[in-house]
Amino acid sequence: MPHTPGSGHVGENTRALSLPEGPVPAERPLRMPVHRATTYAFDTSQEFADVLSGAQDGYSYARIDSPTVDAFAEAVAALEGAGLDTPVRGQSFSSGMGALSTVFMALTEAGAHVVASRSIYGNTYSLLDGLLRRFGVSTDFVDITDLDAVRAAVRPETRVVFTETLSNPTMTVSDLPALAEIAHGAGASLVVDSTFASPAICRPLEFGADVVVHSATKYIGGHSDTTGGVAVAEPALIDRVRAARVDLGPCLAPDEAYMLHRGLETLPLRVARQCESAAAFAAALEGHPAVERVDHPSLASHPQHDLAGKLFDHGRFGGVVTVHPKGGWDAGMAFADRLRVSTIAASLGGTHTLAGHVATTTHRTMNQEELDAAGISSGAVRFSIGLEDPEDLVEDALQALDNG
Ligand SMILES: Cc1ncc(COP(=O)(O)O)c(C=O)c1O
Repeated sequence: MPHTPGSGHVGENTRALSLPEGPVPAERPLRMPVHRATTYAFDTSQEFADVLSGAQDGYSYARIDSPTVDAFAEAVAALEGAGLDTPVRGQSFSSGMGALSTVFMALTEAGAHVVASRSIYGNTYSLLDGLLRRFGVSTDFVDITDLDAVRAAVRPETRVVFTETLSNPTMTVSDLPALAEIAHGAGASLVVDSTFASPAICRPLEFGADVVVHSATKYIGGHSDTTGGVAVAEPALIDRVRAARVDLGPCLAPDEAYMLHRGLETLPLRVARQCESAAAFAAALEGHPAVERVDHPSLASHPQHDLAGKLFDHGRFGGVVTVHPKGGWDAGMAFADRLRVSTIAASLGGTHTLAGHVATTTHRTMNQEELDAAGISSGAVRFSIGLEDPEDLVEDALQALDNG
């Protein structure tokens, strides 16, 4: 029957778009629902206008805010702010770089200045040294363990002091309380990328940081199957980050938010195990005749061993170990090639142990002089320790060294 308005009959397409959607359960589902909608329906135009203007709380469009995505950000905020008396809020992003670029855009303007550790993730380095410089934001890169150098680098236009809790690949530990004091004395914010630590090891906001950022792709997701990012700060600051995110557009997808939220449930279990195995792995390889040096903050030989003990929880020193074999570049590549339990692959923080020759992968853009300055030998191999039995990882690495 053809559709006549008011007749009660509608055409097949209209019917197809008005199907029953099933009950909303009265019982609380044990798993968080995934809200995939990109847009939300309103009863009145006024309600729609009020939600968009912020006069009324609510959801309108998924790039702006989305329930599953917000739930993930607020879950990370609950973990990062666990020891704080004041509230903190989170924002989710499509990747760690999405989070970092948005935070820098939110906190700087043309003419602004950044002081950054020179030992940071390569794309964060190129974001600061390339893209942001083109927009008039200049960065001085310093040895972040040299607090006098940090003090000397800040100036009236400095908006951000930036570091990583644990740096890649030497596992250098940042003195967060001292850096917060320097940043605040200069009227700047301390922004900390805590990807390598995760809130299961260290919560930088408790030590005076203003914004903590993660590549959730790593320990938070924890299974090498989801890309995402997150930033946490006090409400007024995170509102500025949110406004920049809405304009820039790197929003996290709801299904990814669900996966990352689920990852948080096992974060302490996974990280505790990874840290314990990493410490055993580092201790077993340090002193091997084919090894020049092992970087892991659990070792008494690590320059920030004592500082790590003060900043990190539960005697957890991180899940990444960097091994510097004797014999340089070729020896390092061959060492990685002889591994049978660890897999040669990018990324970190997942269930599988991953290994990579640093000079040809994560730090391939650095020349020998820059590698030397950063304390990275040309043969260095970085291990992200996973959940395998640690004895198997140790035995595998020892055979790879012995057979060199
Ligand atoms: C310390 C650190 N920060 C940020 C990123 C960027 O994260 P994503 O790949 O999720 O954009 C990475 C990636 O390896 C990283 O190691």
